[in-house]
Amino acid sequence: MKTFPNPVLTKPQAEAALDTAVGLVRQNLPLFTARCQNHSSVHDIYPACDNTQWTCGFWPGEVWLAWERTGDDAFKNTALTLVDSFLWRIEHKVEVDHHDMGFLYSPSCVAAYKLTGSEAGKKAALLAADQLCTRFQEKGGFFQAWGPLGAADNYRYIIDCLLNVPLLYWASEVSGDGHYAALAHRHVATCLANSIRADGSTYHTFFMDPATGAPVRGATCQGYKDDSCWARGQAWGVYGTAISYTYTRKPEYLDAFRRVLDYYLDRLPEDMVPYWDMTFTSGNEEPRDSSSASIVACGLLEAAKHVDSAECVRYKTLAAQMLASVAEHYTVKEGPAGIGLVRHGTYSKKSPYNTCTPEGVDECVSWGDYFYMEALTRFLCDWKLYW
Ligand code: GLY
Repeated sequence: MKTFPNPVLTKPQAEAALDTAVGLVRQNLPLFTARCQNHSSVHDIYPACDNTQWTCGFWPGEVWLAWERTGDDAFKNTALTLVDSFLWRIEHKVEVDHHDMGFLYSPSCVAAYKLTGSEAGKKAALLAADQLCTRFQEKGGFFQAWGPLGAADNYRYIIDCLLNVPLLYWASEVSGDGHYAALAHRHVATCLANSIRADGSTYHTFFMDPATGAPVRGATCQGYKDDSCWARGQAWGVYGTAISYTYTRKPEYLDAFRRVLDYYLDRLPEDMVPYWDMTFTSGNEEPRDSSSASIVACGLLEAAKHVDSAECVRYKTLAAQMLASVAEHYTVKEGPAGIGLVRHGTYSKKSPYNTCTPEGVDECVSWGDYFYMEALTRFLCDWKLYW
């Protein structure tokens, strides 16, 4: 069982860190109310964008977290304006032919419904759940991530989808219709059966046979190479299995959580913030992905609710150590309008072996900012999931 000597975040440090983040979110409200925040910054500054990217849900999630922290209606008003934009997007099917409905609609619209009873938020999130269900492939039992449905060169799912399926658990709870959760269970079972290697590392993407539904091969898009371990994919594995366990209490999900977590911890450098791919370890010149650390901290704090006291203490300590490192060494304290919250995230770094478009390398990334705030909020209170 790997442990680290690093300092833990204290409650006053967490409060100060969250208040700094909230201050930066407040400063950015005028820029990102009528428009959305781009997926990643350029020299730490986020451009504005239309509500067309898979990442547009994270900024409203930050605004909801800021509202929970302060009770200031300036945050609520911006978040509800953005909910209207998300309802319009799903009603008009703007850039929704992919699986990222949970990333888009949980932190924006499920949050709006849970926090304020917003009917627009509920309607939008249920439509998004329906949209995600259209991407379910019976042959293989998975949500197809990208591309035209059934296309042989895109007949695959990706580990990231573990954060999309919670939208379906929520949709079943709120609608009383079990088919959403049933598809979620089938997808998670397929993912856990194929995507986790014997050593606990994960494949980013996994191809299935369109004729038979049989598993074919793991591959990467954003990791270094097919048989390496993309740090954020591993983090989606950690947090995604924890949330699925919360909703289902299936012991195999908690077992999977422990396996992917152990691999992740074994590959961390001294400051507990991974390089963008876990091939790279201490002493490397490669960029980090600070967003992975915040995502894993959220997963640890979620899993800590379900385990015995010794394991709970261990998970809370690890999360507090990761957050102390991010807060101390990676965060922005002040800056001009549009500034991000957490530096040294990596969206997609090109390698000789992967297929991604390079963007957002060693920058602030919108989900890195969101999960940092979520983790601090979890650390400070008994937080009700937006997922
Ligand atoms: N879900 C895509 C990413 O994590 O970059």
